[in-house]
Amino acid sequence: MVFFPKSLQHKIEQVKEKHQFRSLKTNYPSIDFSSNDYLGFSSQGYLSEELKTLEPSIKTGSTGSRLISGNSFLFNEIENEIAQFHHGDSALIYNSGYDANLGLLSSVPQKGDLILSDELIHASLIDGIRLSFATHYKFKHNDINSLKELITRHQSTFKEIYVVVESVYSMDGDCSPLVDLANFCKGINAHLIVDEAHAIGVFGKNGKGLCYELNIEQLCFARIYTYGKAMGCHGASIVGSEELKHYLINFSRSFIYTTAMPEHTLLSIKAAYQLLKKTIEVEKLRSHITFFNTLTTKSHQNFIASTSAIHCLILKGNNDVQFLEEKLGKRNFFVKSIKSPTVKQGEERMRLCLHSFNTKDEIDVLLSLIHE
Ligand SMILES: Cc1ncc(COP(=O)(O)O)c(C=O)c1O
Repeated sequence: MVFFPKSLQHKIEQVKEKHQFRSLKTNYPSIDFSSNDYLGFSSQGYLSEELKTLEPSIKTGSTGSRLISGNSFLFNEIENEIAQFHHGDSALIYNSGYDANLGLLSSVPQKGDLILSDELIHASLIDGIRLSFATHYKFKHNDINSLKELITRHQSTFKEIYVVVESVYSMDGDCSPLVDLANFCKGINAHLIVDEAHAIGVFGKNGKGLCYELNIEQLCFARIYTYGKAMGCHGASIVGSEELKHYLINFSRSFIYTTAMPEHTLLSIKAAYQLLKKTIEVEKLRSHITFFNTLTTKSHQNFIASTSAIHCLILKGNNDVQFLEEKLGKRNFFVKSIKSPTVKQGEERMRLCLHSFNTKDEIDVLLSLIHE
């Protein structure tokens, strides 16, 4: 039998004691208020139907990294389409949003540069920053004055400044003050990086994202679009300048040292963009978000203010949120509690994700049960 280190076993015991032990589940209640499939592209089969129009091949692998044997005309074609859709000069596809964020933040900011990030950015951005040789400070969540203070203190010491935010925060559902941030960054020549993971498919005409809706696309140094959420498939792209694309192809290790995405997944991304241009699901989702907000305002339920698909109710304590998750599960509602340490202790929460395919009745019943 192989030997498992005692120190690691001890860590497992510790998280169990704190009710923080994570395990993988396969059996989900059926009324989905938890997945990131905001438009039903995956679960409702919309994307697989659209994919048929592209006659996907059954080639199972891409045979190598993109710099060796894994590149194809299809990659070029789809990256051009993505750049066009998001009004950027270029797009570069990564195998996942995690890879994109890791590859961007670890390679672009250099020693002698400064990264300033919102304190609530996603782990994939944090991990990229950890691998970078630049200096890093966090500013208070969505607080532009806190960002300005850091700039005043450090601006003169560093060469380039990168400001890293998400358009929609995945564990809170609230939006970044992107217009103010973009104008501020422009004023001081800082480079703004925006992760649009939870905004694509949710905001803007044809679900183009929040940067589009707020007309700040051209003020962003890089925008990250992920395809595993509203787009119903997998992968991500970084949209920016031609120079950024050349740079990433040469220096971004999570792009260089990995097998390229297979054709089937690439075509799924192409089909997802095709679908986004014509679907009515974005409008349906938006109407559900408005309906949800009307009900929570009426019943004074204390959700974090949100116009995105993600809505969070702070309850405090891993036990309380787990209890509510189980209670709702028994009524067939698939709702996830978010426990510490994923969020700060004392800020444990129920995280509800709205979808275009949820019914208004389901939203009503769910909120009544939570209210009880
Ligand atoms: C804000 C944000 N960025 C990036 C990612 C990672 O994307 P992916 O799931 O494609 O790796 C996530 C996923 O949870 C996310 O919420």
